Amino acid sequence: MSAQLIDGKKISLEIQEEIAHEVKTMLGAGMKQPHLAAVLVGNDGGSETYVASKIKTCERVGFKSSLIRLPETVSEEELLKTVHALNNDKDVDGFIVQLPLPKHIAEHKIIEAIDPKKDVDGFHPINVGRMVLDLPCYVSATPYGIVELLRKYKIETSGKNCVVIGRSHIVGSPMSILLAKNTALGNCTVTLCHSRTKDLTSHTLKADIIICALGQPEFLKADMVKDGVVVIDVGTTRVKSTETKSGFKLKGDVKFDEVAPKCSYITPVPGGVGPMTIASLIKNTLLAAKKEIYK
Ligand code: GUN
Repeated sequence: MSAQLIDGKKISLEIQEEIAHEVKTMLGAGMKQPHLAAVLVGNDGGSETYVASKIKTCERVGFKSSLIRLPETVSEEELLKTVHALNNDKDVDGFIVQLPLPKHIAEHKIIEAIDPKKDVDGFHPINVGRMVLDLPCYVSATPYGIVELLRKYKIETSGKNCVVIGRSHIVGSPMSILLAKNTALGNCTVTLCHSRTKDLTSHTLKADIIICALGQPEFLKADMVKDGVVVIDVGTTRVKSTETKSGFKLKGDVKFDEVAPKCSYITPVPGGVGPMTIASLIKNTLLAAKKEIYK
């Protein structure tokens, strides 16, 4: 079997082009420029890279962007003040607070302080709850991006066995809910596996689709998957490398070289899910600017 590579970078650029076109139309009609703000606390290398990429994408599609940098030592109170200021800033359509946050800050308090109407990450309990109940909401960017990839590549989900590995609030948990929904891109029989799962391989061997989102480089091996499986690799662990200018490279959760030959479709790292996360965030911001979710 030779796997088809799912080109997330290409699909992301296509989506960005469509959005750029729409922004031009909006500006032509006298509407204001969509505006995404990002809050970055501290200097974590991974977060720096992701936020820089989000800001660059804003420029590419014609959005206004603002980056608010706060020191690692910022208090929870100060960060909450920043969130409230962004909630009240009429020019900002949507904003994100890049995670993870330093240990002295309660992440859930910050997320709950974000106005759900501006929560383009889709992390606020109101957006998560509305997603579960099939109500209009911002869907968290990575799962949204993965569903979009499955759609673009016409990968059938209905009736398929899907194993999601990892139960994070950002990826695994919402992903399992989306794929089990009674919708065109759902109707999977979903098994959500995690660190306490017994005999994980007995589950993955039955899977038609595997979403690997546990953050452990090269975790999924060839002997854990059946022939013809669709593998979506969400892992983006930064490891030291002498091969790149930055001194780092991204490693996925899948041992790509040995798993790919057994797959019908597989996402690479980098260039698979990562660029789709950004495309989804930009899409959510456009929805926010057009007030399409919350009127
Ligand atoms: N950290 C890792 N992924 C994400 C994301 O999608 N949004 C935010 N805000 N932080 C993240």
